[in-house]
Amino acid sequence: MQIAKLVKVARQLCQPGKGILAADESSGTIAKRFKQINLPSTESNRKSWRELLFTTRGISQFISGVILYDETIRQGLGQVIKKNGMIPGIKVDTGAKPMAGFPGETVTEGLDGLRERLAEYVKLGAQFTKWRAVTNLGKGLPTKPVLEANAQALARFAVLSQEAGLVPIVEPETLMEGQHDIQTHARATKKTLITVFDQLKQFRVYLPGMLLKTNLVASGLAATKQADSSAVAKATLAVFKAVVPQTVPGIMFLSGGMSPEASTVNLDAINKVGRQPWQLSFSYGRALQGEALEIWNGQSKNKPAAQQAFYQRAQKIAWARQGRL
Ligand code: 13P
Repeated sequence: MQIAKLVKVARQLCQPGKGILAADESSGTIAKRFKQINLPSTESNRKSWRELLFTTRGISQFISGVILYDETIRQGLGQVIKKNGMIPGIKVDTGAKPMAGFPGETVTEGLDGLRERLAEYVKLGAQFTKWRAVTNLGKGLPTKPVLEANAQALARFAVLSQEAGLVPIVEPETLMEGQHDIQTHARATKKTLITVFDQLKQFRVYLPGMLLKTNLVASGLAATKQADSSAVAKATLAVFKAVVPQTVPGIMFLSGGMSPEASTVNLDAINKVGRQPWQLSFSYGRALQGEALEIWNGQSKNKPAAQQAFYQRAQKIAWARQGRL
């Protein structure tokens, strides 16, 4: 295992003042995002959108790395990211699929042939990888067997990535969708993370050479009573302190459907609490891209305004990542 390289890249990705842009929407997900602006999801539209983001002048002040999707890295955009001072990475799971026998739960697939795919991504310039597993809430959910199946796949993905010299971003996401209260979300997040770190240990994943990507602990997006940002920070840190080993260099939050502003304010609140054993940063998709996408609207004349909106949101999130909003 190339330990020194893994540690170096992991630390670069979560370095103070910077975080990750998640631009790894699968074909299905990007089609959903484009539908909101009535844009057909063609290969050239997808490329234009991603190029607009990655070539925004000065964006590497705030963004350390970018997660790509298979199609995007093959379009040569990994080189564009590198040229603009950021590190290219790649999503390698093939999606969360319904788990047979467990209604309402999913298991993330993609382990078959992964060693060979990783070798190819190394040739295409990737320096890190991502795999997302989902914990669903509901009556009697999450179940132990599904938590374990997802955690074991995350661990196997992580150790294969490290073998290939790639920093794994281990992403267990406990969904924010729903009407649950913050305590329910805290319990499910804690259960998920305990199971994940147990499997990471058993499968000999080298913790200083990986990053954790996960959710903030929060009220359900549709809950009538919303916990404020200081309650979100407190509940999230309580779970991490109980569960996340201090040798993990960084925890990168996903935005998970929270608005750009809420994602920013919550990140600021958690970084205002004070020094923690891990860097507390971001790996946002929707929160970084949402406003710019609306402004762009698929039209090249809107490109400068869209890049400006993306720059401004990234700047604000980078300040929040230092608790300096
Ligand atoms: P969101 O920030 O839009 O949740 O996307 C992050 C991500 O990469 C989910 O896998």
